Amino acid sequence: MTIIHSAPLPADLLAQLQTLAPLIEVPPGVRPQTLIGAEQRASVVGMLCTLATRVDADLLDCFANLKIVSNVAVGFDNVELEQANRRRVLVCNTPGVLDAAVADLTMGLVLCLARNLVAAHEFVRSGGWRSGSAPFGSDLAGKTLGLLGMGRIGSMVARRARAFDMRVIYYNRKQDQAAEAEGLATRVSRDELFAQSDYVSVHVPLTDETRMSIGTREFELMQPHAKLINTSRGAVVDEAALIRALRTGRIAGAGLDVMAQEPLDPSSELCRLPNVVLQPHAGSATTETRRSMRVLAVDNLRRALCGEAPRAMVNPQVWPIEVATSQS
Ligand code: DGY
Repeated sequence: MTIIHSAPLPADLLAQLQTLAPLIEVPPGVRPQTLIGAEQRASVVGMLCTLATRVDADLLDCFANLKIVSNVAVGFDNVELEQANRRRVLVCNTPGVLDAAVADLTMGLVLCLARNLVAAHEFVRSGGWRSGSAPFGSDLAGKTLGLLGMGRIGSMVARRARAFDMRVIYYNRKQDQAAEAEGLATRVSRDELFAQSDYVSVHVPLTDETRMSIGTREFELMQPHAKLINTSRGAVVDEAALIRALRTGRIAGAGLDVMAQEPLDPSSELCRLPNVVLQPHAGSATTETRRSMRVLAVDNLRRALCGEAPRAMVNPQVWPIEVATSQS
């Protein structure tokens, strides 16, 4: 038995994995099938990876005995789930442990746009402060935050926004009765969300249904002073339409932690627009949260290989899995 890992791990977690099986390290972003020769592939039963590893039909065909893919992420759009299901490969993820960190960054982007923090920072660094007056921002209190998606992360953002005295509305297929009973947020139609919000924040996963689902039509619905925040997945937004909306003043700004292509090419117009604040897909990038994600991902893999149901299965219908141990 062998385990591939393409997620960097601290020594203690590496040691835990090593007690299960010998490890093959694959640098992040490198396709494991290009690095691991045909004779070694049959021994691979488990893989710990990040979003940078594409788990597609080709990879699954190359590793015919692979039974568990443990993603160090809550999102799993790097995995072709249907292909995994067809081969009864269990896919695990890391829900819950990163909600607060992503919600914090979302509010960071809202604050950054509201208070013009990047322009003000430049104003100080460039010496503009000596001769001019600092750029003004606007208050958050009384403004409307519209959450597209009201799952775990959306509701954590709602809680934070309420602490800033913002009005919070949301659109989600399912009503969140607990959030409404608590006075956290009110459900509106999808169109109302775009039309009423001063800030629209995206909290939906990337699926066939959500891909490019925010485009010209949605930007036309938004108010010209409104801003878009995206800490979910870049491909949910039609980026060309977003750039047009930002360039023409159809909307006032955007705070983006995620882009259609990552890493973002510095020649992208997004890097030049003055009304855009960018982050390098860093929603979960705190020391504590990344550690919790890795602990959960290693635990998912360990449990699956030991015959115990992992704590976070994306496709529990394939559980229990049969691991081929004859190669060990
Ligand atoms: C996730 O876990 O899906 C995040 O986007 C990774 O930081």
